[in-house]
Order: sequence, then C-alpha cells, then structure tokens
Amino acid sequence: MSNPQHIVILTGAGISAESGIQTFRDAGGLWEGHAVEQVATPEGFAADPVLVHRFYNLRRAALRDVKPNAAHIALGELQAEFGGRVTLVTQNVDDLHERGGSKDVIHMHGELLSAFCTACDHHWRQAEDLTVETPCPACQTRGGPRPDIVWFGEMPYEMDRIEYALQSCDLFVSIGTSGAVYPAAGFVQLAHVHGARTLELNLEPSQGSAFFSETRHGPATRLVPEWVAPLL
Ligand code: OAD
Repeated sequence: MSNPQHIVILTGAGISAESGIQTFRDAGGLWEGHAVEQVATPEGFAADPVLVHRFYNLRRAALRDVKPNAAHIALGELQAEFGGRVTLVTQNVDDLHERGGSKDVIHMHGELLSAFCTACDHHWRQAEDLTVETPCPACQTRGGPRPDIVWFGEMPYEMDRIEYALQSCDLFVSIGTSGAVYPAAGFVQLAHVHGARTLELNLEPSQGSAFFSETRHGPATRLVPEWVAPLL
C-alpha cells in the first residue's frame, strides 16, 4: 500500500503508561485514588477548590519524574521527518509528546502546564503550584485561576481543527486509548466515513476496536516505533 499523505494520530493515556503515568480506566475508574466527579468536573472544583488545586499540583510536579518513552519519541521523529502531514491530537494532559520531539500537538483535554483565569479568560503557562490565593497574572483576581484541564461537561479544545483534519486525512491512527470518552471515541468513524484507512495500536482490544480497519495489540513502546519506521 502506498504511503499516506496526511495522517491524523489520536493518543490516550496508554502511550504514557510505560513512562510511569497511570491510565484512567485500568485504575478502576479512579484517577490517582480520586473519583472523577471530585477532581475532574467544574462542580468538584466549586465544592472544594483547595483539594482540586492540590490534586493537579501533585500531577504537575509528577511530570518532573517522568520521561518520554520510545513511542513519544517515534511520533516526534514522524512529525519532523515524514514527507506528508501529521496532525497529532492527544487526550493526555502531560507534556511527554513535546519532550519526545513533537512540535505541534493539539491537547484537546488541556494541559497540566497551563492555567487560565475564570474571571478574565487569560491563559498562561503554569509550571509551579496553583492555589486559591494565586492571583491571575492579567487581571490580578485571586481565586480566578484554575487548571487548564477540560473537565467532564466542558468542551474539548480545537474541535474545528480536529474535525477538519479527520475529514481530509487518508490515515487515522489511534494509540493507547480506551475509546470510552466522546468526542474522541467517535473520531475513527468520522475519519472512516470520509474515506480514511483506520488503525488502532493498543495494548489490548479497546471498546472501539471493531470500528478500525486494522488493529495491532501490544505495548506502545514496541508498536509505535514498528509502525513509524517504514514511513520514514
Ligand atoms: P484510558 O485509561 O481510558 O485507556 C487507556 C488505554 O490504554 C486502554 O485501552 C489500555 O488498554 C491502553 N494501554 C495501557 N497501557 C498501554 C501500553 N503500554 N501501550 C498501549 N496501550 C496501553 O485512557 P484514555 O482513553 O486516554 O479525560 O481516557 C480518555 C479520557 O478519559 C482522558 O483524557 C481523561 C479521562 O477521563 C480528561 O481528563 C478530560
């Protein structure tokens, strides 16, 4: 089969698992011991902002102890060296794609290293802890800043750009995601109806496996470099 011209890649928690970041559903629906409603909803933040800030401060600090793995690095090489276009979309809030060499990453569920102000909507890079006392660097409101994470019930980022890419790509590849959370879980069908080939690389069959034209099962650190090598 000839090389694709435009590849859209969707990654999920499974690509960062071998770097030591816990996945969601494999951990029994808890995120580092917390119910999703407590730490990943606007209601949870309104109910206990101190707990939610502490939770994301720990996740942000944990990034310092992890490194990109062979799968992130292979995708960085693909984005830099592939002859056609590569649109990389991640549901992950870590920065391992960037540290693996990817220069253009769409973080549809937000980023741990970003914050925004609920008072003035200013967004900024946040590498240090956030607290209920942190003033917004733009409008100075205390209590305005929150983690720049797309919580349940909120709209993922850059959906227009992602949908346009899915409609115009000729290969869609899903890596390390359970296919349990929409809209990302529906990307395979959108790409398929617009004529793209679809490939799943996951540790095991996912909820969405049946929608893919091809599936390969195994750890991302093996499957991703094996898939990328012949394309370069
Ligand atoms: P999940 O935890 O739902 O799924 C992780 C997937 O990765 C599973 O299908 C695993 O089989 C697979 N996996 C685990 N280890 C792997 C490895 N070494 N190599 C390859 N695959 C592996 O994580 P996501 O699908 O990313 O949302 O979850 C989607 C969203 O749900 C997340 O972005 C998060 C969560 O709620 C928000 O934070 C908004």
